[in-house]
Amino acid sequence: MYNQKNLNVVKLNFENFSLSTLRDNLYTGSLFQIEKKIFCPLIMSLKQALQTYLVTEPEFAEHKLSPAQHFLQISKLRQELYSSPTWKKNTFEFFQSLKLPLDEYWIDTPRIRAIVTTKNQSPLAKPAYYIHRDTWYGNSQSQINFWIPLCDISRENGFCFYLDYFDKPIKNNSHLFNYEIWKASGGYQSTNINKFFPTIQEELKSHKIYHVNLPSEGVLIFSSAHLHATNPNTTDKTRFSIDIRIVHKKDFHDKLGAINVDNFSVGLNIQDMWDFSKENF
Ligand SMILES: [Fe+2]
Repeated sequence: MYNQKNLNVVKLNFENFSLSTLRDNLYTGSLFQIEKKIFCPLIMSLKQALQTYLVTEPEFAEHKLSPAQHFLQISKLRQELYSSPTWKKNTFEFFQSLKLPLDEYWIDTPRIRAIVTTKNQSPLAKPAYYIHRDTWYGNSQSQINFWIPLCDISRENGFCFYLDYFDKPIKNNSHLFNYEIWKASGGYQSTNINKFFPTIQEELKSHKIYHVNLPSEGVLIFSSAHLHATNPNTTDKTRFSIDIRIVHKKDFHDKLGAINVDNFSVGLNIQDMWDFSKENF
């Protein structure tokens, strides 16, 4: 059964950070956060790119550009960063600063998210608010997510976890998700609106909802198997964030990870992750 101690968010010191000692706790549902700003070259390059593509005060650009222009500029920004060798090097340096033994993990390309305010929210963005587990998208049960926002996060602009569903199944349509088809239709951040987004298929009755509360440039660390959803952004600023997904190779091979209670997706994203043991920086 779900361990009550896991309902707490554990605050970490950057200096004492050791993911190897935390993995078992992450796999049983604990959430960890580092509140102190940490060295994150990814954030620095994202800030620079935001200045280039959205000009000054990028968090207010959604009020000055048309929704289509805003979307296009962010798509261009993503393209530039994801295709740059610096983005990969910055990822390497971020985990190096956390003293993570990089050769033990597969690491996915860090993804940029932009959640505009409810005032400018497009009906096409509806799937971004679906209640889901990341594992329903062909993500491993051993996967751990790092999430870093560029602004202070509260329930007005953040996301929430349904903690009591960590090890409790909920009816969903993940059986219709196929990772290869997903990739062929553009992957995680394409503009293709015909992609299939798995979500719940019954009414949610959660009694343990945790709304993320995190200072700007802090880090939230959680299992990809958590049931969660993005909150509508009721502030006046766009919420930018970076998320990075990692999988411990040995844990994956030893089938260590979060319990699979209801994930029926087909395929696995690990094949597309970086393996830094084969890189030289
Ligand atoms: Fe998610």
